[in-house]
Amino acid sequence: MTTDTQMLAGVPLFSRCTTAEIEAVTSRALVNEFETGQLIVSQGTPGTAFYLVLEGRVEVEKDGAHVGGLGPGEFFGEMALLDSAPRSATIRAAEPTRCMMLSSWDFRAALEQHPSVAVKLLEVLTQRLRAADARC
Ligand code: CMP
Repeated sequence: MTTDTQMLAGVPLFSRCTTAEIEAVTSRALVNEFETGQLIVSQGTPGTAFYLVLEGRVEVEKDGAHVGGLGPGEFFGEMALLDSAPRSATIRAAEPTRCMMLSSWDFRAALEQHPSVAVKLLEVLTQRLRAADARC
């Protein structure tokens, strides 16, 4: 088992997956490194990948305003893949950051093949919606 697989086994998104299931998902993933300040996702552009933070931290910005930060085990980039609308926010690395990236196709396949991952993703999206409502 790789260090990344060990780390992912402790991530809520994969908490109901077996090691074999996590390895099946990660075998299709790429790992990318970003420098401090590097743009990862740009608001308003089409989405092609889903990201899960393995190490480091990213900042989330909407219409130029800071709306939050995401760290190890947290994910971003799912929205544009789910509804094919443009990216809803800009994401930048706040420090040297390593992300696991899944293509749109592999992200959808992971959700369809592992319903527990889809349910966990919905739980996080619900929490983010509640937090966004609380800010209004
Ligand atoms: P997507 O729209 O594909 O690209 C930008 C991503 O930022 C979005 O998917 C979410 O993953 C993430 N995002 C958007 N709004 C928030 C928020 N309020 N809190 C945390 N993450 C967010």
